[in-house]
Amino acid sequence: VPVKTIEWRDNSVRMIDQRLLPARETIRIYKDYKGVADAIRTMVIRGAPAIGVAAAMGVALGIRGYSGTRAQSRFALVAKALKSTRPTAVNLAWGVDRMGRVLEANLSLDAAHLFRVMRDEAIAICREDIEANRAMGKFGAELLSASNTILTHCNAGALATAGYGTALGVVRAAKEAGKKVAVFADETRPFLQGSRLTAWELHKDKIPVTIIADNMAATVLRSGRIDCVIVGTDRTAANGDVANKIGTYPLAVMARRHNVPFYVAAPLSSIDLNCPSGDQIPIEERSGLELTEFRGKQVAPKGIATFNPAFDVTPNDLVTAIITERGVAYPPYTESLKALKDSARPPK
Ligand code: MRU
Repeated sequence: VPVKTIEWRDNSVRMIDQRLLPARETIRIYKDYKGVADAIRTMVIRGAPAIGVAAAMGVALGIRGYSGTRAQSRFALVAKALKSTRPTAVNLAWGVDRMGRVLEANLSLDAAHLFRVMRDEAIAICREDIEANRAMGKFGAELLSASNTILTHCNAGALATAGYGTALGVVRAAKEAGKKVAVFADETRPFLQGSRLTAWELHKDKIPVTIIADNMAATVLRSGRIDCVIVGTDRTAANGDVANKIGTYPLAVMARRHNVPFYVAAPLSSIDLNCPSGDQIPIEERSGLELTEFRGKQVAPKGIATFNPAFDVTPNDLVTAIITERGVAYPPYTESLKALKDSARPPK
């Protein structure tokens, strides 16, 4: 792992500031939940599993010094603030709710003791995320042949998780299994998670990576050099519809056109059985400044109308398989995803 995305140390949360990568490797330190909420909102940390871990750690910071019914009402306030930061990735609410269940089970503890239990739970969520990624990697690597060129979108790597990555975890696991891997990374407009983050972490790991602008994907797919597409997800519905970074859906359409398998690496924490289909997944819309400005420089007429959805939904019929830490799900996803979720130990 090139760098720690997020870490609990000395009763504070440390994160590498992903807005500054790859130019600068700056660590930010947060001592209260408001700082963590701001970090999620402003994209110091991003990526579905990573913000789930961050939110859990934020809860631990938030309830520090509280116990009993005061801890309960404090949790309600902290949970609301953290959950309101970004709407699409279900991992965020999942992480907060898991912390809430631990709180409910430990209301008899004094404040100091309760804080330790909550802190330990947040650290466990962080550790389990890496374990899930490694397990997902093993299952995913089995789908790949001896030599592969993989096209990916956004960053579903170590930086989007507690470490190792989901889609990039499959790439890393394939390499560890002795397979030859190379990656094409979409630059991923407008936030450039591909060219800034995916390229940075793969390059550090000495995994061959070639960046392309998003509008070059069809040409690369048509050239026949891509063996499969692998992406992450922010929320996958019960029927296998996949919400992921804007630009994922066109990639799935193009992959189908060129008979290239389209795989989604999805930890169980990102599968939301309460969403019957992608239609119910809330899609975050971000500031139009991400389109009208580039690094603070005006690149479109002032006052122009913008539309900037941060995620799109890929319909399940375009998804070849969904890789989880419990195994690989194939269509019909309504059955296969439920079976994998049920096989997990509660309360995950
Ligand atoms: O807006 P972001 O950078 O948080 O979006 C991240 C993605 O879309 C990732 O592909 C997704 O979270 C999966 S990460 C394992």
